[in-house]
Amino acid sequence: MPLLGVNIDHVATIRQARRTNEPDPIHAAVLAEIGGADSITVHLREDRRHIQDRDVRLVREICRVGINLEMAVSDEITRIALNVLPDQVTLVPERREEVTTEGGLDVKTHFARIRQCVDQLQGAGITVSLFIDPDLSQIERARELKVTAVEIHTGAYADAKTQRDIEIQYDKLREAGQFATAQGLRLNMGHGLTYRNVRRIAEIQGVYELNIGHSIISQAVLVGFERAVREMKQLVTL
Ligand code: PXP
Repeated sequence: MPLLGVNIDHVATIRQARRTNEPDPIHAAVLAEIGGADSITVHLREDRRHIQDRDVRLVREICRVGINLEMAVSDEITRIALNVLPDQVTLVPERREEVTTEGGLDVKTHFARIRQCVDQLQGAGITVSLFIDPDLSQIERARELKVTAVEIHTGAYADAKTQRDIEIQYDKLREAGQFATAQGLRLNMGHGLTYRNVRRIAEIQGVYELNIGHSIISQAVLVGFERAVREMKQLVTL
């Protein structure tokens, strides 16, 4: 039965659209907890387009469930992580021009740089997860870094348009998941998951946690945050 991590970045996106103080992502974090979230995710981007430093500090202070900080492999954000001490950091690639995280980390190419960051975070007792594509060679390199977890990117599955492509992408996720757990890695998954496509992902053998943002926030705008989280929790809890 996978855990549900709720990403609250887009509550901050709405606030930043007016550079005001509402809606407050901290309120959303509390409602997500009440709705059954098992952890809260915030992505502190280098350009601070949504989540701000203050949000990370407060979410850490106020939430009773675990905090997952998504971040780029960056000295500045690493310093903040070492100060705030989230329960988990998920390292992601980051490009300023992207709308959302596109593609997983290239652990093979940036191995030494990622290792330096992983060692610092793990040295402070933070669980580290690497966001990677369903690519077995990337998973193998992740294992060499001795991280606790990988988060397998489900975006290609979510974006697939034809039934044939959906099945191809799903098989890749299943195979990557099986490989990761066989390597002793904790298996997280996320990106592009919705109320419609999440069930099959939740059924993948060994999946530990699903991280979901956009779809839950979209539903929350219409039905309220707590209910949106509760409905997603019911879907992932088979
Ligand atoms: N996992 C990671 C690593 C992400 O970067 C994101 C997007 O911030 C998500 C999960 C959530 O994706 P979505 O908002 O599409 O549910």
